[in-house]
Amino acid sequence: MKTLFLLFLFCHVSSPVKHTLKFFFTASSGVPNFPELVATIVVDEILAGYCDTNTKTIKPKQDWMKKVFEDDPQHLEHYNRHCSENDPVFFKTLMDSLKQSFNHSGGIHILQRMNGCEWDDETGEVNVFVQYGYDGDFFLVFDVKTETWIASKPQAITTKQIWDKDKDRITDFKKYLTQIFPGWLKKYVAYGNSTLLRKDLPSVSLLQKTPSSPVSCHATGFYPDRATMFWRKDGEERHEDVDHGDILPNDDGSFQMSVDLNLSSVTPEDWRRYDCVFQLSGVKDDLITTLDKAKIRTNWGKTNDMTFAITAAVVVFVLALILFIASGFIAYKKKKGERKIKD
Ligand SMILES: *[C@@H]1O[C@H](CO)[C@@H](O)[C@H](O)[C@H]1NC(C)=O
Ligand SMILES: *[C@@H]1O[C@H](CO)[C@@H](O)[C@H](O)[C@H]1NC(C)=O
Ligand SMILES: *[C@@H]1O[C@H](CO)[C@@H](O)[C@H](O)[C@H]1NC(C)=O
Repeated sequence: MKTLFLLFLFCHVSSPVKHTLKFFFTASSGVPNFPELVATIVVDEILAGYCDTNTKTIKPKQDWMKKVFEDDPQHLEHYNRHCSENDPVFFKTLMDSLKQSFNHSGGIHILQRMNGCEWDDETGEVNVFVQYGYDGDFFLVFDVKTETWIASKPQAITTKQIWDKDKDRITDFKKYLTQIFPGWLKKYVAYGNSTLLRKDLPSVSLLQKTPSSPVSCHATGFYPDRATMFWRKDGEERHEDVDHGDILPNDDGSFQMSVDLNLSSVTPEDWRRYDCVFQLSGVKDDLITTLDKAKIRTNWGKTNDMTFAITAAVVVFVLALILFIASGFIAYKKKKGERKIKD
């Protein structure tokens, strides 16, 4: 199942000031022991609900989503109807017609859809999106302004033409995208407020790989991913010799980021004029860390925890790789053996 989700071509367009509601659909053909359709509800990049053609009912994946369904059984019913009847039929039909237009009679094929909306809780602005992918490539994208489908493959043109003509479907679809989904998103954010609207400050540390490396100001554990971090000299933001890293997700749902400062042309007595500032949107107090040699965590000259952790991780990785190759080899040999017997 993991591998299938890795195939998702839709990149995260998570803009920091916005809440998002996304529905992901993955229809597969020719994958044994895997449901023909898997659908998920994702709110602010958190899995809130899951359904597939084996279970046929939507399962809330967060306590607040469970509460939404308890308080509004019709809402739950809407999802269950889609999950057990409408969506499997729709995706099966589309998959069959795509396989035909690509001349794909056998093999493994994946059809995906991501749709949903983005809502800025400060400005109230709403953006919507619908994208289809087939076997890892964009296929059809809905243009809300012109109310037409954009085909990104020649094989998508027939579907585009049929869908463009179906004005009732487009009107209905647009209503969901621009009115109903944003309403749901606001409701989910209100129910999940203790998680989705929380503000967690990070722990900030100064790290340096070697005595001549840039000093990295590293913040980890913050939420949400609306944050900025920068270096200052004498209270003024520095742009030269500064390298900003991306905001990255941690396993626990929080985020991390680093900003590196190249100090090769700064004399040791000037170090104290620098500080690193972390700001979380909606939180007044900044986290300020003065550049102090004594506070920098390094990993030269001693085998500290980090070196140990890195070494351990490398060893585990290599072992896993060996096991993986070995098991693949065994499976291959087995297959070969089986084939020989059959032949
Ligand atoms: C599929 O097959 C038909 C007839 O065999 C051919 O005309 C058509 O070009 C093929 N389409 C693709 C996408 O290969
Ligand atoms: C979440 O909403 C409840 C009820 O409206 C309120 O009491 C609580 O303070 C809110 N929590 C956050 C983190 O906004
Ligand atoms: C740091 O700056 C010096 C010159 O000021 C440059 O030679 C060096 O390559 C830089 N180091 C990094 C890691 O960018």
